[in-house]
Amino acid sequence: MARDGKRIAMLTCYDASFASLCDDAGVDILLVGDSLGMVIQGQSSTLSVSLDETLYHTRCVVAGSSRALVIADLPFGTYQASAEAAYVACSKALQAGAQMVKLEGGAWLADTVAFLTHRGIPVCGHVGLQPQSFNVLGGYRVQGKTAGAADAMIADARALVAAGCAMLIVECVPRALGARVQREAGVPVIGIGAGPDCAGQVLVIYDALGITPGKPARFVRNFMSGHDSVASALAAYVAAVREGSFPGPEHCF
Ligand code: KIV
Repeated sequence: MARDGKRIAMLTCYDASFASLCDDAGVDILLVGDSLGMVIQGQSSTLSVSLDETLYHTRCVVAGSSRALVIADLPFGTYQASAEAAYVACSKALQAGAQMVKLEGGAWLADTVAFLTHRGIPVCGHVGLQPQSFNVLGGYRVQGKTAGAADAMIADARALVAAGCAMLIVECVPRALGARVQREAGVPVIGIGAGPDCAGQVLVIYDALGITPGKPARFVRNFMSGHDSVASALAAYVAAVREGSFPGPEHCF
């Protein structure tokens, strides 16, 4: 799709019913995000999500979808310590039906990514804001705002791709940096709060449907507004991503 210039529509998904609706709406990729810790379990961060919980939700999503690519988001603590530990967690995610795994991190993860991809595990990297590291980052903030931080992010993206990542997520960065990651990475980049110049877009499905309580983040659009069913809101999300009307300037940093 990226090669053909067809923008990729991705949403998080945690259960079979939403997976089926997303499939029917034409969503290309379903991410079983560790955001489930916040939107399903009501926790204040993603850190408490366990591998067993991720596997459970992955099985639910796989059961409900027949078309979309399903990616399992590896939880905090399951892949950072060693490539071998990452392999054990990732192999369980693939056995649960995921077709790819996602890991948060930069160049320090490159050896692990190479270890996994050499052993038949497709890997999606995740740069920019990495919610599993919010304690180090000092909160959920836009990343890559200085020239040095932007260059470091590009170096991380390149290292991950050189190690074998077939796709990258870039989260909460200035629009120009989102475009630069896409230009320099050489693989499809899916943005969230990274502007319209990435190969695709992802949102937490509860944000896209206006379910999440509180003030939405700047990069979120509620696709339920103007629509009277979840099915038509999801179709509107896919259409807006495909035609490039989402994200608009008001969603960018
Ligand atoms: O867990 C998640 O939902 C994610 C997306 C925000 C990219 O990682």
